[in-house]
Amino acid sequence: MEWYLVPDLVFNGETFIKKVKVGSKSICLVGQGGELFALGAKCPHAGGDLTQGWCNDGKLICPLHRYSFDLKTGKGSAGQNDYVSSYPVEIRGMEVYIGVTSFWEQFKQSFK
Ligand code: FES
Repeated sequence: MEWYLVPDLVFNGETFIKKVKVGSKSICLVGQGGELFALGAKCPHAGGDLTQGWCNDGKLICPLHRYSFDLKTGKGSAGQNDYVSSYPVEIRGMEVYIGVTSFWEQFKQSFK
């Protein structure tokens, strides 16, 4: 796993939804309830931009057709049968880092 610094962000516990690019990934970074969550930015239903959505009851809501995804796991709500990737987030001092595992790392780990 590689850790990427999120540029121009100091997290003070505020609520926000922001698109960040780390490595080759577009990530929807969410500050909610004093925590940070990082999910894939593209909705698996029809490609909606989740960074234009909103949060409700621990879920990120897609603005296009209102599918919802758990902020912690990325799992879609009951009946959706889908998910978005979720990424670990670390706050180091005042800086925010997102951990990304490459496709090849995941592939190799699947054979261990
Ligand atoms: S594109 Fe996200 S719910 Fe349809």
